[in-house]
Amino acid sequence: MIEDIQAAQRLDSRGNPTVQVDVKTAHGTFRALVPSGASTGSHEAVELRDTCKAAYGGKGVLTAVGNVRTVIGPALMEKEFDPRTQQKEIDQFMCDLDGTPDKSRLGANAILGVSMACARAGAVAADVPLYEFLRQEAVKTGPYVLPVPFFNVLNGGRRSGNTMAFQEIMVAPTGAETFEEGVRWGSEIYSALKEIITKKFGPPATGVGDEGGFAPPITHLEEALDLLTEAVEARGYTGRVVFGIDPASSEFFKDGAYDIGFKDKKPDIKTPQDMMQLYRDVMEKYPIALLEDPFAEDDWASWSEFNQACEVELVGDDLLCANVHRVWKAKERRACNSMSLKMNQIGTVSEAIKAAKLAKSFKWGVFVSHRSGEETTDDFIADLTVALSTGHLKSGAPCRGEHVAKYNRLMDIEAELEGSWKPSEYAGARFRNPSTY
Ligand code: PGA
Ligand code: ZN
Repeated sequence: MIEDIQAAQRLDSRGNPTVQVDVKTAHGTFRALVPSGASTGSHEAVELRDTCKAAYGGKGVLTAVGNVRTVIGPALMEKEFDPRTQQKEIDQFMCDLDGTPDKSRLGANAILGVSMACARAGAVAADVPLYEFLRQEAVKTGPYVLPVPFFNVLNGGRRSGNTMAFQEIMVAPTGAETFEEGVRWGSEIYSALKEIITKKFGPPATGVGDEGGFAPPITHLEEALDLLTEAVEARGYTGRVVFGIDPASSEFFKDGAYDIGFKDKKPDIKTPQDMMQLYRDVMEKYPIALLEDPFAEDDWASWSEFNQACEVELVGDDLLCANVHRVWKAKERRACNSMSLKMNQIGTVSEAIKAAKLAKSFKWGVFVSHRSGEETTDDFIADLTVALSTGHLKSGAPCRGEHVAKYNRLMDIEAELEGSWKPSEYAGARFRNPSTY
């Protein structure tokens, strides 16, 4: 039973306020810190921000914090839910209490914080690790799957000071034997990249973007992919890693076209057909295995056309916002073959699990993701990834606390599973569809 629910305003990795929730039970106090996005999809659940400009430029979350303390907390405690067995009921109750389709009354940030903290309380009450607790709701058979980490090592878009429109260039150690080995490869490639950038552009160019990736003064996608190729070669991993790209293209879509010159205000307008060609060209030249949001969130026709003949994983992030209505629409229109999973786009743990199960039922990939720069050191998504056997996740570069918290937690989980009777495996090349549901 829940004895107390408290909330507070704390800071995220960008120094902006975010919601912290503490749920107290007989087993202890369980905390969750909510992340938030920078290049958010317009169909996401609503994150409540205070309108008062005097504090934090209007970004305060005291209203959401107040909603936890005075509305959600008392109402949940009155119901005497048991977090050990009633995660779904708790989440549903909060959705009903909010009463809006996008959680705009109480705030998805308020609701998600409570949902995550309750899950942690439930896991301890059930005396199992969090990934095991969440897994009971999702996958019940097959080995435990450790994901392939997609390290975002080169940053562009709104996350960086350079002029590259494309937001994230990722490298993924699919050829490693274990998650831990994959982390080592990622870290080695990251350090090679630093050396190469220092040599080419000088030490000041090694500053990093919000996700910890380097943001050297480059403009074109191929420049980034060439740098990454060189770094992979330098550490001897050619042929054993794949690349992923998240252009976050909704950010530069306007009037039916894409302006990839938007960063330095020198318009470089591409039609959807030009973009498709651009992707095909780089896919031919580099080992690209994943494209996330290559088209804008409401450019459905381009998604559908490109997906027809697409061999790589096509992840809908802003396109879907992990919202089941949009997931169904994408299925009907055959718009993508994978779903990005960010818990705060939906707003509760149960709904995130439900969305992942739906995507899996279509034989889609599920790509668990942190939230760009407005992240916290909360490592919940590491357990979620294993629980859902998603086979891959992204949590930024292999550096800085808010990113490595997730990678470190996954190494802990891998070690724990290795030392147990439970069968486990690293997803490796099967990251798109690693396991049974
Ligand atoms: P966001 O970006 O968290 O700022 O939305 C990450 C992404 O686009 O995947
Ligand atoms: Zn994205």
